[in-house]
Amino acid sequence: MSRDQSLDTLVIHAGTGPDPATGARQVPIYQTTSYQFRDAEHAARLFNLEEVGYIYSRLTNPTVAALQNRVAALEGGAGAVCCSSGHAAQILALFPLMGPGRNIVASTRLYGGTVTQFTHAIKRFGWSAKFVDLDDLDALRDAIDDDTRAIFCESISNPGGYVTDIPSVAEVADAAGIPLIVDNTLATPCLCRPIEMGATLVVHSLTKFMTGNGTVTGGVVVDSGKFDWSASDKFPSLSEPEPAYHGLKFHETFGALAFTFHGIAIGLRDLGMTMNPQGAHYTLMGIETLALRVPRHVENAVKVAEWLENDPRVTSVTYAGLPSSPWNETAKRLYPKGAGSLFNFAIKGGYDAAVRMVDALDLFSHVANLGDARSLVIHSASTTHRQLTEEQQRAAGAAPELVRLSIGIENPDDLIADLDQALAKATS
Ligand SMILES: Cc1ncc(COP(=O)(O)O)c(C=O)c1O
Repeated sequence: MSRDQSLDTLVIHAGTGPDPATGARQVPIYQTTSYQFRDAEHAARLFNLEEVGYIYSRLTNPTVAALQNRVAALEGGAGAVCCSSGHAAQILALFPLMGPGRNIVASTRLYGGTVTQFTHAIKRFGWSAKFVDLDDLDALRDAIDDDTRAIFCESISNPGGYVTDIPSVAEVADAAGIPLIVDNTLATPCLCRPIEMGATLVVHSLTKFMTGNGTVTGGVVVDSGKFDWSASDKFPSLSEPEPAYHGLKFHETFGALAFTFHGIAIGLRDLGMTMNPQGAHYTLMGIETLALRVPRHVENAVKVAEWLENDPRVTSVTYAGLPSSPWNETAKRLYPKGAGSLFNFAIKGGYDAAVRMVDALDLFSHVANLGDARSLVIHSASTTHRQLTEEQQRAAGAAPELVRLSIGIENPDDLIADLDQALAKATS
């Protein structure tokens, strides 16, 4: 190719081709746990990372590898590691960076499950998180200390649909010599390419828009390949000899692919949070239509958000694509193709009316998911953000009076009609 392919082409072709063994044009589901070695020497070389190849499907599998290559290409990364869920991806991303006593600085505006994972679960590893409003760059700088090993944020945040000024946050990360990890689940590479804005690592819940039809639970970590892991003594897992590989130094040996190799050879090998080949296959199928689906999601979200904002029964709409949003300027500047399709709204009558609204909707499915082709609804404070304190809920954009919508790709008039009848019931 004489020029870089566009995203519309990459979603269909990147990382895959006809199957080398059979010519099968679609990526086959390699439903196997193991791969026959040519001989003992071959097996030993693979186990020593002296030769790249397939050993055992907890580490690598050709169907999963195809998905890894595709997502890496979509995000403009050097490599990617798929895993069993978006939550697994977050641990897989942090694992090589952290150690007992180390911390991350994370945005207050995150998916509730992530706030819980960072508040409670990671403490069991001796890690901790400090939550900061990333719009306040001075507060971010102040929160970083000698033990901080990463900054973590969502490009477009769940559930508020707020947007993060990734280039500004990346500048702070650079100055501190630590990586910026961006969860790009809600934006997808169609709306945001965090690596181009300075992110070191990108994580996704593939469960959402990437698969796009609610059939797969999966995650991925994409490495930009640009971070110098040897520039300081902060990242010994990548820069120092690895005892579990006879003293191999990942950064020295694999260069831009150090994080990816570590994610597979240590992360998946030892943590075992592997993606299964069927899940990878379905996700590849889903990604083929990503570049068609996402613009339609955004177009519908704008129509629904505008309609809601103009309805006197509605008291607020948080969509960053609306001029009334405090994040609208940032959205227009950094997310010109749209601010996604997930947002909150509140109606007259507060919490009780919000709950009635959820129950009254018909076409919207009441589920704990987002990014499906179907429109979805949930009351975040009592579900996805339930484990948070009310202060954390409000900071995350999940206040008790808010209802979260994930706008699908149906006809927008049908969605608006459903909201109209539900509003009538909820506010009567
Ligand atoms: C923004 C975001 N990141 C990560 C996750 C976790 O993903 P998974 O459910 O695939 O573990 C979610 C789940 O809702 C999410 O919304």
